[in-house]
Amino acid sequence: MRGQQLFVQTGCESCHKQTLKTGYSPVAALANTEFHPYTDLLLHNMGPGLDDGYTEGSAGGAEWRTPPLWGLGLAQNSQGGQVYLMHDGRARSIREAIRMHGGEAASIQKRFEEMPAASQADVIAFLKSL
Ligand code: HEC
Repeated sequence: MRGQQLFVQTGCESCHKQTLKTGYSPVAALANTEFHPYTDLLLHNMGPGLDDGYTEGSAGGAEWRTPPLWGLGLAQNSQGGQVYLMHDGRARSIREAIRMHGGEAASIQKRFEEMPAASQADVIAFLKSL
């Protein structure tokens, strides 16, 4: 729970939105329903370190969609004992994935790096609980 608070306070939640709400759906169970995907479903410029030099439609090489973090805690077992995070799987741990955030996320990544190690561990424990 401490990790979840820090996740919000640090600003991770500005992109990895905890709660979204569906709109109209003819299926009642899907209509106007809150869910917790930990994404805003939007593209963000993530800086030169994540620029693969390829454009897709109108998206530049450094622009990536915020991935949902729900289920992140299951990734290790579902990916054969090792996690492969970020768009091309280059990050081999949650810690490494956070370190690779640049561009629009640079100031928030810096805030995370400046937190005490115990607080960083709390955030990662929270992410593994999703
Ligand atoms: C500016 C928006 C933004 C902010 C702020 C942000 N992220 Fe992200 N995050 C992204 C995007 C976009 C990606 C995907 C980048 C890629 O695919 O190369 C990502 C990827 C990740 C991943 C890897 C997920 C996967 O399935 O590959 C983790 C873990 C993560 N972010 C955690 C965090 C944490 C923790 C914070 C706060 C310290 C944070 N993010 C702040 C946009 C953001």
